[in-house]
Amino acid sequence: MPTPISPEAYVRWFRDSSPYIHAHRGKTFVVSFGGEAVADSGFPNTIHDFAMLNSLGVRLVLVHGIRPQVDARLKSRGVEAHYHQGLRITDNTALECVKEAAGTVRVEIEALLSQGLANSPMAGARIRVASGNFVTAKPVGVRDGVDFQHTGEVRRIDVDGIRGELDRGDIVLLSAIGYSPTGEVFNLSAEQVATSAAIALKADKLLLLTEQDCLSGFDGQLIRQLTTGEAEVLLKNDNSLADSEVAPHLKAAVEACCHGVRRAHLLDRHIDGAVLLELFTRDGVGTLVSKTAFETMRPATVQDVSGVLDLIAPLEQNGVLVPRSRERLETDIEDFIVIERDGLIIGCAALHVFKEERMGELACLALHNDYRGEKRGERLLEHLEAKARVLHIERLFVLTTQTAHWFRERGFEPARTTDLPEARRASYNSHRASKVLIKPLKPSLA
Ligand SMILES: CC(C)(COP(=O)(O)OP(=O)(O)OC[C@H]1O[C@@H](n2cnc3c(N)ncnc32)[C@H](O)[C@@H]1OP(=O)(O)O)[C@@H](O)C(=O)NCCC(=O)NCCS
Repeated sequence: MPTPISPEAYVRWFRDSSPYIHAHRGKTFVVSFGGEAVADSGFPNTIHDFAMLNSLGVRLVLVHGIRPQVDARLKSRGVEAHYHQGLRITDNTALECVKEAAGTVRVEIEALLSQGLANSPMAGARIRVASGNFVTAKPVGVRDGVDFQHTGEVRRIDVDGIRGELDRGDIVLLSAIGYSPTGEVFNLSAEQVATSAAIALKADKLLLLTEQDCLSGFDGQLIRQLTTGEAEVLLKNDNSLADSEVAPHLKAAVEACCHGVRRAHLLDRHIDGAVLLELFTRDGVGTLVSKTAFETMRPATVQDVSGVLDLIAPLEQNGVLVPRSRERLETDIEDFIVIERDGLIIGCAALHVFKEERMGELACLALHNDYRGEKRGERLLEHLEAKARVLHIERLFVLTTQTAHWFRERGFEPARTTDLPEARRASYNSHRASKVLIKPLKPSLA
């Protein structure tokens, strides 16, 4: 029996989800899952989660695999399945099985998405599912002397066709099947279809539901985040990862991110609600892959002092920030985080801790003029909030002359100087008359 959720916890959960709901609305997500997920008794729950994403305004493209369903059909005909280098060799019999399996699975998914019984999670959902000849394929051909016959590769994705359906609010469902201009049918890999679709559609996210967690063989821990560069190094050096079932998914994630998809997520499909947990909670449950090497957020070091001084000098001159000497910055540099882009410090922020009062001061938040308005300020704030939680800080405060509204829109409330820690009160500059704002922090979920 699941533990009943208290009304307070329910309300808190719902409120905490709302920033994610806003963030995901109107975004395009491509989700791929294997035939194993479809055959699982928990699959209706996964489908309900997709339906919910659709109702929250996410533009959703689903890509399903059929491997176990095809194998089962071949077996019932007494025919052995043939693979070369992990790729099915699709002869005429296998192609028949592929068509049957794809048709059956598609209909099953469409049926689940059409549910609307009053007492079900899909009540009133009224979802339209669009599927069709959106994928053009070409034959894999002969490799290493092996003729792959009806096994194909993606040649083109009908971006306009899919976008048209998404614009109407439909869910697009793609099978791992493609058609050639000569009228032939090709068996494709679901990952390849999903990756190609995500790239062609310039999707915001590619979500790959996997049979396994993305674990590092080095310490057996779930890998939470990887840049594409880090993923490539791991695939090369970590044998147990490179040999695991998750490797093709990780390669697909890297490929997508290297070709313009903002984020790829690898999620263990056995976790009930994995997609919702990944998308609507701060910590998520999967492995996030992104191409962030170009721009990184990291703790500052003494080598960054000049870069930070260059960044904040104009803001000090026009009175937005309090002037800081090089010496003071060198002393405080460990409190800073910076955003470095292609060798340039384009953002910074500091967290000064007042341990006794369990308070933290968010200070010197600044973004280079050319890089404002793209949520970097928010990311710096979120990062320091997370750090503050780890340090058991209960309230974050900020002193500001011109940016009070930016902070108020992010959960800070007006406060008085008497609310500040004693040491900070003593150094408060009454000529500057900065406004004091305080944000209570929720404890870390971790
Ligand atoms: C405040 C600052 C850090 C925000 O960085 P950012 O990366 O642009 O932040 P975000 O992208 O998350 O937010 C942008 C939004 O904040 C708004 N904003 C920017 N400065 C603002 C201010 N002073 N007051 C209210 N809103 C402000 C923008 O108009 C934009 O709103 P919109 O998306 O509705 O158009 C950046 O503008 C900056 O460096 N300002 C100068 C330094 C400063 O004031 N620091 C605070 C010292 S206490």
